[in-house]
Amino acid sequence: KKDVLGIRDMSKEDLIEILDTAKEMKKIIEGEKISDILKGKTIITIFFEPSTRTRLSFEMAAKYLGAHFGNIETKTSSVVKGESLIDTVRTVERMKADVIITRHNMSGAPHLMAKYLNASIINAGDGLNEHPTQALLDLMTIGEKKESFKGLKVVIIGDIVHSRVARSNMWGLLKLGAEVRLAGPATLLPKTFEKLGVKVYYDINKAINGVDVVMGLRIQLERQKSGLFPSKDEFVRYFGITSERMRLAKKDAILMHPGPINRNVEISSEAANSGYSVIEEQVTNGVAVRMALLKLLCERRKNNENNY
Ligand code: CP
Repeated sequence: KKDVLGIRDMSKEDLIEILDTAKEMKKIIEGEKISDILKGKTIITIFFEPSTRTRLSFEMAAKYLGAHFGNIETKTSSVVKGESLIDTVRTVERMKADVIITRHNMSGAPHLMAKYLNASIINAGDGLNEHPTQALLDLMTIGEKKESFKGLKVVIIGDIVHSRVARSNMWGLLKLGAEVRLAGPATLLPKTFEKLGVKVYYDINKAINGVDVVMGLRIQLERQKSGLFPSKDEFVRYFGITSERMRLAKKDAILMHPGPINRNVEISSEAANSGYSVIEEQVTNGVAVRMALLKLLCERRKNNENNY
């Protein structure tokens, strides 16, 4: 495919190819941090929503692989003068961009861009829909810590309904054979998720019991139109991930969070800083998977020069 829009439309083989390539890319990060794999390629990021990890890790990934790199700050761009989404990205494409990486608050915005452009589009998060590169770095981190995905018990806890991270992880983990549990208050976790092949829990202690991986999510207040329900205090009491609750998981369970963390809300500071926490390793793996995607997409573009 020309673009990376979501995990839902990837095959298990696609996932394995990306994760294997990311392993190779990690050697570059841990070594000289320089390569000419993307020499002559142009990579542009354009984020319509805030980001620290995703945007910067794409920039580092492009630079470590020797590409030309540019970034559009949407707040100081002609977007504020009312230029349309498609006109904006077409302008970027005419500057010979090979890959455009975008984040947007509207689900489907990257899909629309992909339809109108010859450049490859990578979805860096679209509304409530997907955050495929986050799921890939999460899968890479789990793969480094656990022997196999088959039968692995993973619980994703918190604000599921607003989480594109939860959705992308859910698709990826199910494709690789893991058991996925979702836990949260009923207001943030509709029972209908069960139709997708996951287990829904409203009792966090039951959900964590015996799992290999605990994944917290940020409470997304910016997407909650009428405030958080239950209240923040109730959420912490009934759904907060603490060291005490982590003891219900398997002895060698790991704790993950995509970041940014609301410390002592969805996750206690003590748990986030504990030895079982792999949150900082997730960040490094984020650069590796993004390098892998850029490499694979640019190789594919070369092989399909006349088709795009
Ligand atoms: N996890 C994640 O997407 O972080 P940023 O919003 O900082 O990119």
